[in-house]
Amino acid sequence: MQYGQQPIRVGIVGLGTVGGGALRLLKDNASEIARRTGCPIVVSHVGVRRDRPECDTSGIRVSRDVFAVVRDPDVDILVEVMGGTTTAREVVTQALEQGKHVVTANKALLAEHGNEIFALAEAKGRFVAFEAAVAGGVPIIKVLREGLAANRINAVAGIINGTGNFILSEMRQKGRDFYEVLKEAQAMGYAEADPAFDVEGIDAAHKLTILASLAFGIPLQFKKVYAEGITRLTAADVAYAAELGYQIKHLGLARRTELGIELRVHPTLIPAERLISNVHGVKNAVLVLADPVGPTLYYGSGAGAGPTASAVVADLVDVARAMRNQPVGAGRAGVPHLAFQPDALDNTPILNIDQVHTAYYLRLLANDRPGVLADVTGILSRYSISIEAILQKPAHAADHAAGKAPIILLTKVVCEAAMNAAIGEIEALTDILDHVVRIRLETLDA
Ligand code: NDP
Ligand code: HSE
Repeated sequence: MQYGQQPIRVGIVGLGTVGGGALRLLKDNASEIARRTGCPIVVSHVGVRRDRPECDTSGIRVSRDVFAVVRDPDVDILVEVMGGTTTAREVVTQALEQGKHVVTANKALLAEHGNEIFALAEAKGRFVAFEAAVAGGVPIIKVLREGLAANRINAVAGIINGTGNFILSEMRQKGRDFYEVLKEAQAMGYAEADPAFDVEGIDAAHKLTILASLAFGIPLQFKKVYAEGITRLTAADVAYAAELGYQIKHLGLARRTELGIELRVHPTLIPAERLISNVHGVKNAVLVLADPVGPTLYYGSGAGAGPTASAVVADLVDVARAMRNQPVGAGRAGVPHLAFQPDALDNTPILNIDQVHTAYYLRLLANDRPGVLADVTGILSRYSISIEAILQKPAHAADHAAGKAPIILLTKVVCEAAMNAAIGEIEALTDILDHVVRIRLETLDA
């Protein structure tokens, strides 16, 4: 097949896991991509801070200064895959000011500065495409913006950090050490430059911010997301949860309620029989509950060079197709950046974590004597917290000798404020010997 069309010229800033992967993919699948786009997509200029001998940049202009790529008139689309929110923000802003379209994988940048970036893009009639920013190779942005456009979306729940899921899976399935697995995730290119973003839930909160905006038609509000990571999870809780028929997954949850929108990221007990409970390793999965379609689930690799490059290049194809089909200077037409028209975003309140409703797993360490359980259940009952299941475990040798025993409780759905108050009273009992461990539980039924 011959193309008389001019190639679309791409500049890439950042040649790490994602940038290197995108460069490779554009080369390896060049002819397939050109057949889809209707013209070749060529990389004309890359910006790198240091040499990247593993990347084949032959025939490509290479600059140490990323802004040289931004200013280059031979670049039609700028791919920002350097990460961070300072230089990257400047790069994206300047590229739009210069009339370039932008493709980015940078969820931190969009979650924190996306409202202004998309407003600038609209004003300049340019695209900011960001499929790679959430769930790596899973095309969840396209699903929410286009595939489900006829629906009212009620909830989005997902395993949206590959590094965290990889660590939890390896620890659970192979008994491996947390930090050893984290190092492996870094070596595989899954982790963020600062891996605290992965294990403390910040990366998932960035992604949830984006998903919630697309699902509900609200502005990006990263600061209102409640985020807890996986660093405090213990093997004992994972084992007790399994005994009760649950898996613990690190989940991002955005849910529409009558009072407002819940936006939260935290370890969560999920019934073992749910499909999403069986998403392991670096895989991600996003469950969308929408009306009238019902539950739909999207699954695939959430991080790494190949899967993320797949999303970056798909965005390039989308933008390139639009450029070919629109006359020069016609501006930007088609799908709104945040799924809803910019003037149709609404201000539904985001709920504080103590306003959310969820069920709980509680683990208490108690003096092993009659009456303790009755004291605990008495407190829960005063806060109208119903118990779903109780597991009283024989104590480990040392605790047994000291007369201590763990009690595990599952509750029904309750408001977090009531649970906080009940936990406060339980911890004040003289027979309760440590902080109460609390992990939220979601059944995720339609
Ligand atoms: P890497 O750290 O592997 O690569 C980043 C690249 O950008 C490196 O080449 C780095 O240079 C360069 N860079 C960073 N800051 C600057 C700067 N100020 N000036 C010039 N160059 C700079 O990151 P990833 O490829 O993993 O991630 C890139 C982006 O993609 C991030 O926003 C990340 O969140 C996102 N992402 C990553 C995924 C993954 O699986 N890795 C998946 C989805 C999204 P140097 O080598 O000199 O540090
Ligand atoms: N660090 C991220 C993760 C990369 O592990 O999910 C993909 O966004």
